[in-house]
Amino acid sequence: MTHRLLIALPLLLAACSDRPNFDPDVVKATRLGEALPRNFMLGTSTSAHQIEGGNENDWAVWERGQWPDGRPHIKDGTVSGEAADSWNRFDEDVRLMERLGANAYRFGLEWARLEPTPGAWNAEAMARYQSWARTLRQKGITPLVTMYHFTLPTWVSEAGGWENPATLEAFEAYAGRVAEALGGEVDWWCTVNEPNVLAVLGYLDGEWPPGKKDTKAMATVLSHLLEAHARAARQLRQKDTVDADGDGHATRIGLAHHVRVFQPASGTTADTAVAALTDAFFNESVTEAVRTGRIRLSVPGQVSIDREVADLKGSLDYLGINYYTRDYVRQYLGEPALSRQYVPRGRERNDLGWDIYPEGLYLFLTRYAHLGLPLLVTENGMPDQTGERRPYYLQSHLYAVEQARAQGADVMGYFHWSLLDNFEWAEGYEPKFGLFSVDLASPEKTRTETPAVATFQDVARNLGLSPSP
Ligand code: FCB
Repeated sequence: MTHRLLIALPLLLAACSDRPNFDPDVVKATRLGEALPRNFMLGTSTSAHQIEGGNENDWAVWERGQWPDGRPHIKDGTVSGEAADSWNRFDEDVRLMERLGANAYRFGLEWARLEPTPGAWNAEAMARYQSWARTLRQKGITPLVTMYHFTLPTWVSEAGGWENPATLEAFEAYAGRVAEALGGEVDWWCTVNEPNVLAVLGYLDGEWPPGKKDTKAMATVLSHLLEAHARAARQLRQKDTVDADGDGHATRIGLAHHVRVFQPASGTTADTAVAALTDAFFNESVTEAVRTGRIRLSVPGQVSIDREVADLKGSLDYLGINYYTRDYVRQYLGEPALSRQYVPRGRERNDLGWDIYPEGLYLFLTRYAHLGLPLLVTENGMPDQTGERRPYYLQSHLYAVEQARAQGADVMGYFHWSLLDNFEWAEGYEPKFGLFSVDLASPEKTRTETPAVATFQDVARNLGLSPSP
Protein backbone atom coordinates (compact mmCIF):
# COMPACT_ATOMS: atom_id res chain seq x y z
CA MET A 1 0.00 0.00 0.00
CA THR A 2 2.75 2.42 1.02
CA HIS A 3 4.53 1.50 -2.17
CA ARG A 4 1.41 2.33 -4.24
CA LEU A 5 1.06 5.62 -2.44
CA LEU A 6 4.65 6.47 -3.24
CA ILE A 7 4.00 5.85 -6.92
CA ALA A 8 0.79 7.87 -6.85
CA LEU A 9 2.37 10.83 -5.09
CA PRO A 10 4.37 12.19 -8.03
CA LEU A 11 1.24 11.83 -10.18
CA LEU A 12 -0.73 13.93 -7.72
CA LEU A 13 2.02 16.51 -7.51
CA ALA A 14 2.17 16.71 -11.29
CA ALA A 15 -1.54 17.43 -11.40
CA CYS A 16 -1.10 20.37 -8.99
CA SER A 17 1.66 22.17 -10.84
CA ASP A 18 2.11 23.86 -14.19
CA ARG A 19 5.70 22.72 -14.50
CA PRO A 20 5.84 19.27 -16.03
CA ASN A 21 6.95 16.56 -13.71
CA PHE A 22 9.60 14.35 -15.29
CA ASP A 23 9.60 11.84 -12.46
CA PRO A 24 10.12 8.45 -14.16
CA ASP A 25 7.04 6.99 -12.45
CA VAL A 26 4.93 9.77 -13.92
CA VAL A 27 6.46 9.34 -17.36
CA LYS A 28 5.96 5.58 -17.31
CA ALA A 29 2.37 5.88 -16.13
CA THR A 30 1.45 8.12 -19.09
CA ARG A 31 -0.25 6.46 -22.06
CA LEU A 32 1.88 8.29 -24.59
CA GLY A 33 0.23 9.01 -27.90
CA GLU A 34 -3.33 9.31 -26.61
CA ALA A 35 -3.02 13.06 -26.11
CA LEU A 36 -1.65 13.61 -29.62
CA PRO A 37 -3.82 14.68 -32.56
CA ARG A 38 -4.65 11.94 -35.07
CA ASN A 39 -2.63 13.67 -37.81
CA PHE A 40 0.51 13.79 -35.64
CA MET A 41 3.53 12.57 -37.61
CA LEU A 42 5.27 9.72 -35.82
CA GLY A 43 8.30 8.42 -37.62
CA THR A 44 12.01 7.88 -37.83
CA SER A 45 14.82 9.90 -39.33
CA THR A 46 17.91 8.94 -41.35
CA SER A 47 20.39 10.61 -43.69
CA ALA A 48 21.72 9.38 -47.03
CA HIS A 49 25.43 9.05 -46.28
CA GLN A 50 24.85 7.38 -42.93
CA ILE A 51 22.82 4.42 -44.25
CA GLU A 52 22.83 4.17 -48.04
CA GLY A 53 26.32 2.79 -48.53
CA GLY A 54 28.60 3.29 -51.53
CA ASN A 55 28.65 7.08 -51.48
CA GLU A 56 31.64 9.00 -52.78
CA ASN A 57 31.70 12.56 -51.42
CA ASP A 58 33.76 14.87 -49.20
CA TRP A 59 33.10 12.69 -46.17
CA ALA A 60 34.20 9.49 -47.91
CA VAL A 61 37.50 11.23 -48.71
CA TRP A 62 37.85 12.49 -45.13
CA GLU A 63 37.14 9.02 -43.69
CA ARG A 64 40.17 7.63 -45.49
CA GLY A 65 42.40 10.37 -44.07
CA GLN A 66 44.46 10.73 -40.90
CA TRP A 67 45.47 13.33 -38.35
CA PRO A 68 49.12 14.47 -38.36
CA ASP A 69 49.89 12.02 -35.53
CA GLY A 70 48.68 9.10 -37.62
CA ARG A 71 45.32 8.50 -35.95
CA PRO A 72 42.49 7.96 -38.44
CA HIS A 73 40.00 10.81 -38.81
CA ILE A 74 37.23 8.43 -37.74
CA LYS A 75 37.69 7.49 -34.07
CA ASP A 76 37.05 3.77 -34.38
CA GLY A 77 39.02 3.54 -37.63
CA THR A 78 35.96 2.64 -39.74
CA VAL A 79 34.79 4.17 -43.01
CA SER A 80 31.15 4.51 -44.03
CA GLY A 81 31.64 1.90 -46.80
CA GLU A 82 28.56 -0.22 -47.43
CA ALA A 83 26.80 1.12 -44.33
CA ALA A 84 23.39 -0.54 -43.87
CA ASP A 85 23.14 -0.80 -47.68
CA SER A 86 19.81 0.99 -47.60
CA TRP A 87 20.34 2.11 -51.18
CA ASN A 88 19.55 -1.49 -52.14
CA ARG A 89 17.36 -2.45 -49.21
CA PHE A 90 14.77 0.25 -49.19
CA ASP A 91 11.80 -2.15 -49.44
CA GLU A 92 13.08 -4.04 -46.43
CA ASP A 93 13.39 -0.77 -44.53
CA VAL A 94 9.83 0.21 -45.41
CA ARG A 95 8.69 -3.07 -43.86
CA LEU A 96 10.52 -2.07 -40.68
CA MET A 97 8.64 1.24 -40.68
CA GLU A 98 5.38 -0.66 -41.11
CA ARG A 99 6.34 -2.88 -38.22
CA LEU A 100 6.83 0.22 -36.09
CA GLY A 101 3.45 1.57 -37.12
CA ALA A 102 5.16 4.79 -38.28
CA ASN A 103 3.21 7.20 -40.47
CA ALA A 104 6.17 9.37 -41.55
CA TYR A 105 9.82 8.96 -42.59
CA ARG A 106 12.53 11.57 -42.89
CA PHE A 107 15.31 10.58 -45.28
CA GLY A 108 18.07 12.42 -47.11
CA LEU A 109 19.17 12.80 -50.71
CA GLU A 110 22.79 12.37 -51.66
CA TRP A 111 23.76 15.34 -53.81
CA ALA A 112 26.91 13.54 -55.00
CA ARG A 113 24.77 10.71 -56.42
CA LEU A 114 22.39 13.07 -58.16
CA GLU A 115 25.05 15.36 -59.62
CA PRO A 116 28.34 13.43 -59.62
CA THR A 117 30.00 16.04 -61.86
CA PRO A 118 28.84 19.63 -62.38
CA GLY A 119 25.59 19.76 -64.34
CA ALA A 120 25.57 16.01 -65.11
CA TRP A 121 22.37 14.74 -63.53
CA ASN A 122 21.97 11.08 -62.71
CA ALA A 123 18.42 10.29 -63.83
CA GLU A 124 18.54 6.77 -62.45
CA ALA A 125 19.36 7.91 -58.93
CA MET A 126 16.66 10.58 -59.07
CA ALA A 127 14.14 7.97 -60.24
CA ARG A 128 15.06 5.78 -57.31
CA TYR A 129 14.43 8.55 -54.79
CA GLN A 130 11.18 9.30 -56.60
CA SER A 131 10.06 5.70 -56.29
CA TRP A 132 10.95 5.72 -52.58
CA ALA A 133 8.71 8.71 -51.96
CA ARG A 134 5.91 7.12 -54.00
CA THR A 135 6.21 3.79 -52.17
CA LEU A 136 6.10 5.53 -48.81
CA ARG A 137 2.98 7.45 -49.70
CA GLN A 138 1.28 4.29 -50.96
CA LYS A 139 1.96 2.73 -47.55
CA GLY A 140 0.51 5.70 -45.68
CA ILE A 141 3.96 6.95 -44.64
CA THR A 142 4.53 10.65 -45.31
CA PRO A 143 7.97 11.32 -46.80
CA LEU A 144 9.97 14.24 -45.42
CA VAL A 145 13.00 14.79 -47.62
CA THR A 146 16.28 16.41 -46.56
CA MET A 147 18.20 18.04 -49.40
CA TYR A 148 21.50 18.56 -47.63
CA HIS A 149 22.74 16.54 -44.65
CA PHE A 150 26.46 17.28 -44.21
CA THR A 151 27.91 15.73 -47.39
CA LEU A 152 29.08 17.53 -50.53
CA PRO A 153 30.06 16.22 -53.94
CA THR A 154 33.85 16.34 -54.12
CA TRP A 155 33.73 18.79 -57.05
CA VAL A 156 32.01 21.20 -54.65
CA SER A 157 34.26 20.61 -51.64
CA GLU A 158 37.41 20.82 -53.77
CA ALA A 159 36.28 24.24 -55.00
CA GLY A 160 36.05 25.53 -51.42
CA GLY A 161 32.76 24.01 -50.23
CA TRP A 162 30.54 26.28 -48.17
CA GLU A 163 33.19 28.97 -47.86
CA ASN A 164 32.90 29.63 -51.59
CA PRO A 165 29.85 31.76 -52.56
CA ALA A 166 29.72 29.85 -55.88
CA THR A 167 28.50 26.83 -53.88
CA LEU A 168 25.27 28.77 -53.30
CA GLU A 169 24.63 28.86 -57.06
CA ALA A 170 25.39 25.16 -57.39
CA PHE A 171 23.17 24.28 -54.45
CA GLU A 172 20.30 26.35 -55.74
CA ALA A 173 20.51 24.58 -59.11
CA TYR A 174 20.49 21.22 -57.32
CA ALA A 175 17.51 22.25 -55.18
CA GLY A 176 15.62 23.34 -58.28
CA ARG A 177 16.24 19.99 -59.97
CA VAL A 178 15.11 18.11 -56.91
CA ALA A 179 11.98 20.25 -56.53
CA GLU A 180 11.02 19.54 -60.15
CA ALA A 181 11.72 15.83 -59.97
CA LEU A 182 10.28 14.99 -56.56
CA GLY A 183 7.69 17.72 -56.05
CA GLY A 184 4.90 15.48 -57.33
CA GLU A 185 5.52 12.98 -54.53
CA VAL A 186 6.88 15.14 -51.73
CA ASP A 187 5.32 18.03 -49.81
CA TRP A 188 7.49 18.03 -46.66
CA TRP A 189 11.01 19.35 -47.19
CA CYS A 190 14.00 19.91 -45.00
CA THR A 191 16.44 22.08 -46.93
CA VAL A 192 19.54 21.99 -44.74
CA ASN A 193 20.36 19.84 -41.73
CA GLU A 194 21.96 21.51 -38.71
CA PRO A 195 23.81 24.50 -40.20
CA ASN A 196 25.24 25.34 -36.77
CA VAL A 197 26.69 21.86 -36.18
CA LEU A 198 28.36 21.71 -39.56
CA ALA A 199 29.82 25.19 -39.15
CA VAL A 200 31.17 24.49 -35.66
CA LEU A 201 32.51 20.96 -36.17
CA GLY A 202 33.93 21.58 -39.63
CA TYR A 203 35.31 25.10 -39.17
CA LEU A 204 35.77 25.86 -35.46
CA ASP A 205 36.57 22.55 -33.75
CA GLY A 206 38.02 21.12 -36.95
CA GLU A 207 36.80 17.60 -36.19
CA TRP A 208 34.86 17.23 -39.43
CA PRO A 209 35.83 18.00 -43.00
CA PRO A 210 37.42 20.30 -43.99
CA GLY A 211 39.06 20.24 -40.52
CA LYS A 212 39.51 23.98 -40.06
CA LYS A 213 39.86 25.95 -36.84
CA ASP A 214 38.94 29.40 -37.99
CA THR A 215 36.20 31.43 -36.32
CA LYS A 216 35.73 33.69 -39.34
CA ALA A 217 35.33 30.75 -41.71
CA MET A 218 32.88 29.18 -39.27
CA ALA A 219 30.69 32.28 -39.34
CA THR A 220 30.93 32.61 -43.13
CA VAL A 221 29.85 29.01 -43.54
CA LEU A 222 26.94 29.38 -41.16
CA SER A 223 25.83 32.47 -43.01
CA HIS A 224 26.13 30.68 -46.38
CA LEU A 225 24.19 27.67 -45.14
CA LEU A 226 21.35 29.94 -44.07
CA GLU A 227 21.40 31.57 -47.47
CA ALA A 228 21.45 28.11 -49.08
CA HIS A 229 18.28 27.34 -47.16
CA ALA A 230 16.63 30.54 -48.44
CA ARG A 231 17.60 29.75 -52.02
CA ALA A 232 16.32 26.18 -51.78
CA ALA A 233 13.05 27.49 -50.33
CA ARG A 234 12.74 29.88 -53.28
CA GLN A 235 13.21 27.01 -55.74
CA LEU A 236 10.71 24.84 -53.92
CA ARG A 237 8.05 27.55 -53.92
CA GLN A 238 8.52 28.08 -57.66
CA LYS A 239 8.86 24.49 -58.77
CA ASP A 240 6.99 22.24 -56.37
CA THR A 241 3.41 23.27 -57.02
CA VAL A 242 1.86 19.81 -56.64
CA ASP A 243 0.00 19.14 -53.42
CA ALA A 244 0.90 15.45 -53.23
CA ASP A 245 -1.19 14.57 -50.19
CA GLY A 246 -4.11 16.88 -50.93
CA ASP A 247 -3.97 18.73 -47.61
CA GLY A 248 -3.90 22.16 -49.23
CA HIS A 249 -0.10 22.61 -49.03
CA ALA A 250 2.16 21.88 -52.01
CA THR A 251 5.23 22.64 -49.93
CA ARG A 252 5.99 22.51 -46.23
CA ILE A 253 9.48 23.88 -45.94
CA GLY A 254 11.72 23.69 -42.93
CA LEU A 255 15.27 23.24 -41.84
CA ALA A 256 16.53 20.97 -39.07
CA HIS A 257 17.98 23.08 -36.29
CA HIS A 258 20.22 21.39 -33.73
CA VAL A 259 19.63 22.78 -30.25
CA ARG A 260 21.49 22.09 -27.01
CA VAL A 261 20.87 23.25 -23.49
CA PHE A 262 23.87 25.26 -22.28
CA GLN A 263 23.89 25.08 -18.53
CA PRO A 264 26.35 27.38 -16.73
CA ALA A 265 28.76 25.15 -14.82
CA SER A 266 28.56 27.48 -11.82
CA GLY A 267 26.76 30.60 -10.68
CA THR A 268 29.76 32.83 -11.46
CA THR A 269 29.16 35.78 -13.74
CA ALA A 270 31.73 34.51 -16.24
CA ASP A 271 30.20 31.02 -16.61
CA THR A 272 26.69 32.46 -16.78
CA ALA A 273 27.65 35.05 -19.39
CA VAL A 274 29.55 32.59 -21.58
CA ALA A 275 26.69 30.06 -21.40
CA ALA A 276 24.25 32.78 -22.46
CA LEU A 277 26.53 33.85 -25.28
CA THR A 278 26.90 30.28 -26.49
CA ASP A 279 23.14 29.83 -26.35
CA ALA A 280 22.60 33.03 -28.32
CA PHE A 281 25.09 32.01 -30.98
CA PHE A 282 24.28 28.34 -31.31
CA ASN A 283 20.56 28.15 -30.57
CA GLU A 284 19.24 31.60 -31.38
CA SER A 285 21.14 33.01 -34.35
CA VAL A 286 19.62 30.50 -36.77
CA THR A 287 16.04 31.03 -35.65
CA GLU A 288 16.51 34.80 -35.46
CA ALA A 289 17.86 34.85 -39.01
CA VAL A 290 14.88 32.99 -40.44
CA ARG A 291 12.47 35.08 -38.34
CA THR A 292 13.87 38.44 -39.45
CA GLY A 293 15.51 37.68 -42.81
CA ARG A 294 18.70 39.19 -41.48
CA ILE A 295 21.75 37.12 -40.56
CA ARG A 296 23.54 38.53 -37.54
CA LEU A 297 26.43 36.54 -36.21
CA SER A 298 28.82 37.84 -33.69
CA VAL A 299 31.65 36.41 -31.64
CA PRO A 300 33.03 39.28 -29.55
CA GLY A 301 36.43 40.44 -30.75
CA GLN A 302 36.49 37.92 -33.60
CA VAL A 303 33.55 38.07 -36.00
CA SER A 304 30.64 40.26 -36.86
CA ILE A 305 28.34 39.49 -39.78
CA ASP A 306 25.17 41.46 -40.37
CA ARG A 307 23.39 41.09 -43.70
CA GLU A 308 19.92 40.79 -45.15
CA VAL A 309 19.27 37.76 -47.33
CA ALA A 310 16.59 37.64 -50.02
CA ASP A 311 13.78 35.15 -49.40
CA LEU A 312 15.03 34.17 -45.94
CA LYS A 313 12.24 35.86 -44.03
CA GLY A 314 9.08 33.83 -44.30
CA SER A 315 10.98 30.86 -45.74
CA LEU A 316 9.86 28.44 -43.03
CA ASP A 317 6.56 26.62 -42.88
CA TYR A 318 7.79 24.70 -39.87
CA LEU A 319 10.88 24.61 -37.69
CA GLY A 320 12.62 21.25 -37.32
CA ILE A 321 14.25 20.66 -33.96
CA ASN A 322 17.05 18.12 -33.50
CA TYR A 323 17.49 17.64 -29.79
CA TYR A 324 19.79 15.23 -27.97
CA THR A 325 21.43 16.65 -24.89
CA ARG A 326 22.61 19.32 -22.48
CA ASP A 327 26.13 20.69 -22.01
CA TYR A 328 27.59 22.29 -18.91
CA VAL A 329 29.58 25.37 -19.85
CA ARG A 330 32.70 26.59 -18.12
CA GLN A 331 34.39 29.75 -19.36
CA TYR A 332 37.83 29.54 -20.96
CA LEU A 333 38.06 32.99 -22.43
CA GLY A 334 41.38 32.28 -24.12
CA GLU A 335 39.88 29.62 -26.42
CA PRO A 336 38.10 30.26 -29.72
CA ALA A 337 34.81 28.89 -28.36
CA LEU A 338 35.34 30.92 -25.13
CA SER A 339 34.37 27.88 -23.08
CA ARG A 340 34.70 24.18 -22.52
CA GLN A 341 31.69 21.95 -22.33
CA TYR A 342 31.29 18.83 -20.27
CA VAL A 343 28.91 16.59 -18.36
CA PRO A 344 29.47 16.48 -14.59
CA ARG A 345 30.10 13.23 -12.82
CA GLY A 346 26.96 11.54 -11.57
CA ARG A 347 24.71 12.58 -14.45
CA GLU A 348 23.20 9.79 -16.53
CA ARG A 349 24.92 9.65 -19.90
CA ASN A 350 24.50 7.76 -23.13
CA ASP A 351 27.22 5.68 -24.83
CA LEU A 352 28.82 8.82 -26.25
CA GLY A 353 28.88 10.46 -22.82
CA TRP A 354 26.04 12.87 -23.59
CA ASP A 355 23.82 13.96 -20.70
CA ILE A 356 20.32 12.47 -20.84
CA TYR A 357 17.97 15.36 -20.17
CA PRO A 358 14.42 15.07 -21.58
CA GLU A 359 13.39 18.32 -19.88
CA GLY A 360 15.60 20.09 -22.42
CA LEU A 361 13.33 19.05 -25.27
CA TYR A 362 10.37 20.52 -23.41
CA LEU A 363 12.34 23.73 -22.82
CA PHE A 364 13.12 24.22 -26.50
CA LEU A 365 9.67 23.32 -27.78
CA THR A 366 8.09 25.84 -25.44
CA ARG A 367 10.84 28.39 -26.12
CA TYR A 368 10.29 28.32 -29.88
CA ALA A 369 6.50 28.46 -29.61
CA HIS A 370 6.84 32.26 -29.87
CA LEU A 371 7.94 31.91 -33.50
CA GLY A 372 4.33 31.13 -34.38
CA LEU A 373 5.44 28.20 -36.55
CA PRO A 374 4.53 24.54 -36.33
CA LEU A 375 7.41 22.56 -34.82
CA LEU A 376 8.62 19.10 -35.76
CA VAL A 377 11.09 17.12 -33.72
CA THR A 378 13.14 16.10 -36.75
CA GLU A 379 15.69 14.14 -34.67
CA ASN A 380 15.96 12.75 -31.17
CA GLY A 381 17.57 9.54 -30.00
CA MET A 382 20.45 7.91 -28.15
CA PRO A 383 23.36 5.61 -28.84
CA ASP A 384 22.76 2.52 -26.76
CA GLN A 385 24.82 -0.63 -27.26
CA THR A 386 22.42 -2.97 -25.48
CA GLY A 387 19.22 -1.22 -26.50
CA GLU A 388 17.98 -1.51 -22.91
CA ARG A 389 17.95 2.20 -22.13
CA ARG A 390 16.37 3.44 -25.35
CA PRO A 391 12.76 2.58 -24.40
CA TYR A 392 12.77 5.02 -21.51
CA TYR A 393 14.68 7.63 -23.51
CA LEU A 394 11.95 7.44 -26.15
CA GLN A 395 9.17 7.58 -23.57
CA SER A 396 10.58 10.52 -21.65
CA HIS A 397 11.20 12.58 -24.79
CA LEU A 398 7.74 11.86 -26.20
CA TYR A 399 6.44 12.87 -22.81
CA ALA A 400 8.32 16.16 -23.23
CA VAL A 401 6.57 16.62 -26.58
CA GLU A 402 3.16 16.03 -25.03
CA GLN A 403 3.90 18.38 -22.15
CA ALA A 404 5.03 21.11 -24.55
CA ARG A 405 1.87 20.67 -26.58
CA ALA A 406 -0.15 21.00 -23.39
CA GLN A 407 1.55 24.37 -22.89
CA GLY A 408 0.46 25.47 -26.36
CA ALA A 409 3.52 24.58 -28.49
CA ASP A 410 2.29 23.48 -31.92
CA VAL A 411 4.37 20.29 -32.21
CA MET A 412 3.14 18.38 -35.27
CA GLY A 413 5.51 15.43 -35.31
CA TYR A 414 8.33 13.42 -33.82
CA PHE A 415 11.01 11.57 -35.83
CA HIS A 416 13.23 9.25 -33.85
CA TRP A 417 16.91 9.10 -34.74
CA SER A 418 17.22 6.51 -36.00
CA LEU A 419 15.52 3.70 -37.87
CA LEU A 420 18.80 1.80 -38.20
CA ASP A 421 22.30 1.70 -36.80
CA ASN A 422 24.29 4.04 -38.98
CA PHE A 423 27.62 5.71 -39.64
CA GLU A 424 27.91 8.30 -36.88
CA TRP A 425 30.32 10.69 -38.62
CA ALA A 426 33.62 11.16 -36.72
CA GLU A 427 32.57 8.48 -34.21
CA GLY A 428 32.23 5.78 -36.87
CA TYR A 429 30.06 2.72 -36.36
CA GLU A 430 30.59 2.25 -32.65
CA PRO A 431 27.58 4.26 -31.45
CA LYS A 432 24.35 2.33 -32.02
CA PHE A 433 21.42 4.64 -32.64
CA GLY A 434 19.06 2.21 -34.39
CA LEU A 435 15.61 1.10 -33.29
CA PHE A 436 16.72 -1.81 -35.46
CA SER A 437 20.32 -2.87 -35.05
CA VAL A 438 22.28 -3.78 -38.18
CA ASP A 439 24.76 -6.61 -38.42
CA LEU A 440 27.29 -4.80 -40.59
CA ALA A 441 29.47 -7.88 -40.98
CA SER A 442 26.69 -9.97 -42.51
CA PRO A 443 26.28 -9.83 -46.31
CA GLU A 444 22.52 -9.25 -45.81
CA LYS A 445 23.13 -6.43 -43.30
CA THR A 446 20.63 -8.19 -41.09
CA ARG A 447 18.28 -5.89 -39.21
CA THR A 448 17.21 -6.93 -35.71
CA GLU A 449 14.58 -5.38 -33.49
CA THR A 450 15.78 -3.64 -30.30
CA PRO A 451 13.56 -3.31 -27.20
CA ALA A 452 12.46 0.24 -28.08
CA VAL A 453 10.52 -1.08 -31.08
CA ALA A 454 7.81 -2.28 -28.69
CA THR A 455 7.77 1.14 -27.02
CA PHE A 456 7.36 2.86 -30.37
CA GLN A 457 4.59 0.44 -31.33
CA ASP A 458 2.69 1.17 -28.11
CA VAL A 459 2.74 4.88 -28.87
CA ALA A 460 1.70 4.23 -32.46
CA ARG A 461 -1.27 2.15 -31.27
CA ASN A 462 -2.30 4.83 -28.80
CA LEU A 463 -2.24 7.26 -31.70
CA GLY A 464 -4.60 5.01 -33.68
CA LEU A 465 -1.92 3.55 -35.98
CA SER A 466 -1.52 -0.15 -36.70
CA PRO A 467 1.95 -1.66 -36.48
CA SER A 468 2.16 -4.66 -38.81
CA PRO A 469 3.09 -8.01 -37.23
C1 FCB B 1 22.78 14.82 -35.47
C2 FCB B 1 22.94 14.58 -36.95
C3 FCB B 1 22.67 13.16 -37.37
C4 FCB B 1 23.18 12.15 -36.37
C5 FCB B 1 22.77 12.52 -34.97
C6 FCB B 1 23.20 11.55 -33.92
O1 FCB B 1 23.51 15.94 -35.09
O2 FCB B 1 22.06 15.39 -37.70
O3 FCB B 1 23.21 12.98 -38.65
O4 FCB B 1 24.53 12.00 -36.51
O5 FCB B 1 23.23 13.80 -34.66
